[in-house]
Amino acid sequence: MTTFVVGTDSVTYKATPFAFLIQRFYQDGWVLLPQFLTDSLNAALLHEAQYEADLTLAGIGRNTAHQLNQQIRRDATQWFDATTPAQQAYLQLMAELQLALNRQCFLGLFDFECHFARYQQGDFYKKHLDAFKGRTNRVLTTVSYLNTVEKGGQLALYDETDKLIQTITPTAGSLLLFESERFPHEVLPAQDPRFSIAGWFRKNANINGVLDPAN
Ligand code: OGA
Ligand code: MN
Repeated sequence: MTTFVVGTDSVTYKATPFAFLIQRFYQDGWVLLPQFLTDSLNAALLHEAQYEADLTLAGIGRNTAHQLNQQIRRDATQWFDATTPAQQAYLQLMAELQLALNRQCFLGLFDFECHFARYQQGDFYKKHLDAFKGRTNRVLTTVSYLNTVEKGGQLALYDETDKLIQTITPTAGSLLLFESERFPHEVLPAQDPRFSIAGWFRKNANINGVLDPAN
């Protein structure tokens, strides 16, 4: 038996964490799972993000596009290349989650992509949606938090009417999952360093006549 505490709820489930995650997701379209990664996998991924990953300013581009981007987000990221055991273990876990979601929620998820992200003091990501209806194949957003943050860097999650649902403080090993088109969200300015893995389950979509375009 595993007890999950979510907000003011405390729920005991007999089955696996996936069962809790899927039930909550099915009901609400989003779920925060306090313990998703094992301590050892979390530690390996955090080590990689802190010391090995080659993190670069997100969405870096030339001139105005880049400057504009810097008004919107200031995190540094590196996409997974699946070359380390920790990345492979994480991708394997997400493949299992993908299978469970497809079996139980009939989502037709096709693949998963993710990157490490680091926010340092003052870094933020203004309110945004990860996907726009009909213009993307991103279906579900995942965020794995790799360290526990004492100050700053909370994730504010909003509903379709822009009402604040919850302000989430990153804690090591936790996972946030939500429908990419449905929930605007923002990362409030970081004070402590904040390491995470942001990922997206995608469907194989035909968009504007282009089969499965890259995002
Ligand atoms: C993102 C994002 C949220 C977080 O990378 O698109 O919204 O809590 N991340 O890191
Ligand atoms: Mn986002």
